[in-house]
Parts: sequence; C-alpha cells; structure tokens
Amino acid sequence: MEDIKWLLVGAGDIAQKRVGAALRDAQHSKLVAVCDLNEEKARSLVEEFSGEQYFTSLDDALVKSKCDAVYIATPVHLHIPQALLSIDAGFPVLVEKPLSLTVEEGKTLIMKAKSTGITAATSYYRRLFPAYQYTKQMLENQEFGPLVLVRMVYDSWFSPEPSDPKYWRVVKGKSGSGPISDMGSHMLDVMIGLIGMPERLIVLCDHLVHDWEVEDTSSILMMMPNGAQAYASFNWSSKTWRHEFELVGREARLAWFPYDSGNLKKTVGREITDLALPPAGNVHLPLVQDFVDALILGKQPVCPLSEGIKVNILMDAIQKSALEGGEVAIPEIEF
Ligand SMILES: NC(=O)c1ccc[n+]([C@@H]2O[C@H](COP(=O)([O-])OP(=O)(O)OC[C@H]3O[C@@H](n4cnc5c(N)ncnc54)[C@H](O)[C@@H]3O)[C@@H](O)[C@H]2O)c1
Repeated sequence: MEDIKWLLVGAGDIAQKRVGAALRDAQHSKLVAVCDLNEEKARSLVEEFSGEQYFTSLDDALVKSKCDAVYIATPVHLHIPQALLSIDAGFPVLVEKPLSLTVEEGKTLIMKAKSTGITAATSYYRRLFPAYQYTKQMLENQEFGPLVLVRMVYDSWFSPEPSDPKYWRVVKGKSGSGPISDMGSHMLDVMIGLIGMPERLIVLCDHLVHDWEVEDTSSILMMMPNGAQAYASFNWSSKTWRHEFELVGREARLAWFPYDSGNLKKTVGREITDLALPPAGNVHLPLVQDFVDALILGKQPVCPLSEGIKVNILMDAIQKSALEGGEVAIPEIEF
C-alpha cells in the first residue's frame, strides 16, 4: 500500500513539538514537504522529519510538492483560507484547532468539502484519548445516572511580548479570542463530544490583568438539554496553574485530574477509585493515524468538520453574550 504523503503548512511550535513527528511516524504516512513563510523554519523541519521539499508559498507548495494530503498548523485566521486552497488543489486537509475564527468562516470550508467530496477534519485529538473513551463508556452504561454538573477549569499564565512569535494568540483578528479559543476550544470539544451542545449560555469575559483586546479571564455558565448545569472558566490571568474537568451525576462523579494526565478519579457514593489511562506520548500520532486510516479505508475521521465547527458555534455565542450581556440561545445548525 502506498503511503499518504503530507504537506505540512506552518512549521511553528506545534509542528516542531508534535505534528511533524506524527506525520512521519504514523503507519502508511510520510512527511514529504513543509511550507512556512519563514524559510529557515521550513527547511529545518524538513530536515528533522525526513521530508524532501520546503516552500515559503502555499500556492507553490500545492503545485510543486508531491503530497496527497495537507496538514494546516498556522495561526487560526489562516486555517480556512489555506484549507480552501488545499481542497481547491484536490487535497484532503486536517486543520488545527479551533477550526476557524467564526462559524460563518468555517461554513465556507464545510460547503467546499461537501461539494467536492474531499475529506476534511479538525485536530481535536482528545476524542481519541483512553480517558475520553472510558468516560464515553461510563455514559453509555448509564453509570452516572442523570448528569447534574459539568465543571472545567483552566488557570494559567500567558504574557507574551509583542515580539514573541506566539503574540498572535492575543490578537483578536488572528486568534478569535484568548484562552477561550486556545485551551477552552479543546475542553469545549470534549464536553460536546461526550454529552452534546448546551441549549443556552451566559458569560463574563474580562481583562483583569493584561491589556489585550482578547479576554484574559472568563466564566461561562451553560444549560444542557437534560437540565445539567455546565461551568467553564478559562484564564491566562493567574500565575497559579489548574487544569481539571469533571462530570457529576446523581450516582457517580468522574474527574480528569489533572486534565491531560490520564489520571481519573472515579467517585461512587463516598468510594473513590484512581484510574490511570494515559494518552499516547505524542498525542497527535493517534489523530494523524486516524486521518490516514480514514483516507485509506474511506471512513469518517474522528472529528469531521461538522463536529469541529460545534466549538465555533459555542464560541460565537460566548462572544455574543460577552458583548451584549445576558443569556444567548445556542442556534441549532446542522452541517
Ligand atoms: N492541538 C494542540 O494541542 C495545539 C497546540 C498548540 C497549537 N495548536 C494550534 O496549532 C496552530 C499553530 O500554533 P503554533 O503554536 O504552532 O503557532 P506558531 O506561531 O508557533 O507557528 C505558526 C507558524 O505558521 C507560520 N506562518 C504564518 N503565516 C504563514 C503563512 N501564510 N503560510 C505559511 N506559514 C505561515 C509562522 O511562520 C509560524 O512558523 C494554531 O492553530 C494553534 O491553535 C494546537
């Protein structure tokens, strides 16, 4: 069987830390080309991960590279324009999170993928975590009883200088929002994948510490269809660190503690059981493998665009509530 040959667009932090290695190491997968505006970054990533060609222009890369699929790992405002170009050139595309700046923007990619029949997906890799599968199984087995609460918290410190390459994360036109778009999008995706979309939400978004156009502190209260209450707080305003997710039902509670460790605390009544279900060493590897398998076997990837955009539907509603104040009903949009 021929390998799927990848063009990686964006040779920044995540590409260097995880995506390049995942594209190289997945079965039936090979990194052949890298494109970055910064030639030196593109060249060094190609060398490190055994690629063959590097480019500084996506138009050139799409014509001249010998790729079969494209991975987009650039700042958020570039995801949709670059994914559209890739599909126009005939290539399946796996897009980093969050999918887009807005639902309206993301919709253009969904329409394009639908009309061409080309596979496209979003990189919400926690849907492949053993902890996620375990939680899903508990829900299917109805071990929680009726859910009453969902709680998620991310407290962290982020304070880039304007000269920092990561500064785009606090520029609204490039990131969409602050910690809500960054880590919040991952946590909202896990909630959506496990228990679905809320019906309504109300938020407080503030600049308590940093002088940015995006929020540094947020509290989001969501009403779930079965009546459960969900609370999320995503913050870049404290030098303390906390990263937790928990589902509480009438019968049982499950905490991901800390969130990404794979350590789960399961409480039934007053009895607590510790479980260890660690994720893969490179969390992008199962994601890339899933996408490669989807292309080879003609199946749906784990987080198709129609799922990935649900986080954007929530983030648009969060922005609306932050701007206008008050509760916002979550629109039912089927893609
Ligand atoms: N899934 C995760 O856990 C995870 C973690 C970190 C980042 N991300 C996502 O990955 C993406 C990249 O984040 P990052 O931290 O690597 O950012 P980064 O700023 O470190 O890297 C972005 C790269 O894109 C390049 N670039 C900018 N404009 C370009 C263009 N027009 N054409 C080609 N290259 C261009 C930049 O030169 C830079 O090398 C973002 O969408 C981010 O949200 C995901």
